[in-house]
Amino acid sequence: MNVQENYSLKNHNTFGVEVSAKYFAQAGNFDELKNALEFAKARDLKTLFLGGGSNVLFTENFDGLVIQLNLKGISEKILNENQVLVTAKAGENWHEFVQYCLRKNYGGLENLSLIPGNVGTSPMQNIGAYGTEIKDTFVNCTVLSLETLQTEVFDAEKCDFGYRDSIFKKEGKGKYVILEVSFKLTTNNHVIKTEYGAIKTELEKMGIENPGIQDVSEAVIHIRQSKLPDPKVTGNAGSFFKNPTIPLEQFEKLKMKFPDIPGYPNGNAVKVPAGWLIEQCGWKGKQIGNVASHELQALVIVNKTGLASGKEIYDFSSLIIGSVKERFGIELEREVNII
Ligand code: FAD
Ligand code: EPU
Repeated sequence: MNVQENYSLKNHNTFGVEVSAKYFAQAGNFDELKNALEFAKARDLKTLFLGGGSNVLFTENFDGLVIQLNLKGISEKILNENQVLVTAKAGENWHEFVQYCLRKNYGGLENLSLIPGNVGTSPMQNIGAYGTEIKDTFVNCTVLSLETLQTEVFDAEKCDFGYRDSIFKKEGKGKYVILEVSFKLTTNNHVIKTEYGAIKTELEKMGIENPGIQDVSEAVIHIRQSKLPDPKVTGNAGSFFKNPTIPLEQFEKLKMKFPDIPGYPNGNAVKVPAGWLIEQCGWKGKQIGNVASHELQALVIVNKTGLASGKEIYDFSSLIIGSVKERFGIELEREVNII
C-alpha cells in the first residue's frame, strides 16, 4: 500500500474543488484496506472513504487519511429461471456495472443508468432516478465495521433505506465501509418502468413502441445528458439539495398563494421539487463569483469557472436555503455530503 502525503483531491471530487488530504491511499484489495486502517490508527488519524467523489463537497483540506476504495470484481449466481443474484465490489463504477448487467440482459437497474460514482456508495443514499431506487433490487451489502474490524452483512431492512437516505447517513455514519453490494435482477420477463418523467416521450422520439431494458437505459441517458451538466466539463455533484416533503396542509396553503406550485402527494405529505422552488426565487442560471445554479436545472450547483472553493459553493447553497425559506417557509436540506 502506497500512502501519499499532502495529496491534491482536485481530481477526486466532481466539483473539482482544490483541496488536499494530509494522507491519501488507494485500497485495491481487502489487505490494503486493513493496512490503510492500521496506518491511520497508529497515527491517530481520522479517515474518509471515497468512491468517485461525485457526492461530496470539501470545504477545507482533510487533515487525516483519505482511502479510495478500488476493490473490483463482479460475480453472479442464477437463482431461478427468471432471477440472478449479481454482486459487485465497492470500487466498480456504477454506470459500467449497469451496462455490464444490460449486456447480460439482466433487468432492474436500467433506470439508474449514467449515475456517477461507484457501486460501494450506492447504498449510502439509496441512489435513485426515473422511478427506481436501488432498494427495489437490493439484496444485501457486505460491510466492514470500523469498530470491530469484522465484516457484517446488512440486508435491506438493516440498511433502513429511505428517499436519499440509509443507515449509513444516520446512526451508522462513519462506522462502516461498504465492501460489496448484491442485487436481485431479472433474466427475462423484465419489468419495464416508463411512467416517470420524460421517459415515454423520449422513447417516442426514438421511435420505440415496445421498449426493452436497453431502450429504457438509452432514453434515460438521453434525458440526463440533455439537462445535467457533465462533471468532466463543469464541476458539480448532481442535485445539491433533496426534494423537500411537506405536510399536505402546508402544501394546500402554499397552493393558494402560489397556484402553480408542483407537488407529488404521498399519503398526508407532499414532495415538492426543490428545482422549482429555487427557480422561483430567481436562482436558475444565476452566478455569484465562481459559483452558479445550473441554467438547465436549478437544483444543480456548478463550479462555473472551475476555480470555486468548497467554502464558496457552501456559502452559495446557504443563500439558496435562505431565499427558499423566506419565500416559501420550506427549509431545504443538502443532499451532498459536506466534508
Ligand atoms: P463519493 O462522493 O465518493 O462518496 C459519497 C459519500 O459516501 C461520502 O460521505 C463518502 O465518505 C462515503 N463513501 C464512499 N464510498 C463508501 C463506501 N464504500 N463505504 C462507506 N462510505 C462510503 N445521485 C442519485 O441518487 N441519483 C441521481 O440521479 C444522481 N445524479 C447525479 C448526476 C451528477 C451529474 C452527479 C455529479 C451526481 C449525481 N448523483 C445522483 C449523486 C452521486 O452520483 C451519487 O450519490 C453516488 O452514489 C455517489 O457515489 P461516489 O462513489 O461518487 O460517492
Ligand atoms: N424544476 C423546475 N426548475 C428547475 C428544475 C426542476 O421547475 O430548474 C421542477 C419541474 O417541475 C420538474 C421537477 O422540478 O418537473 C422535477 O425535475 P427533474 O425531473 O429534473 O428532477 P429533480 O426532482 O430535480 C430528481 C433527483 C435526481 C434524479 C431526477 C430524475 C433529487 C434530489 N434529485 O431531480 O437525482 O436524477 O429526479 O429521477 O431527488 C441527484 O440526486 O443528484 C440527482 C440528480
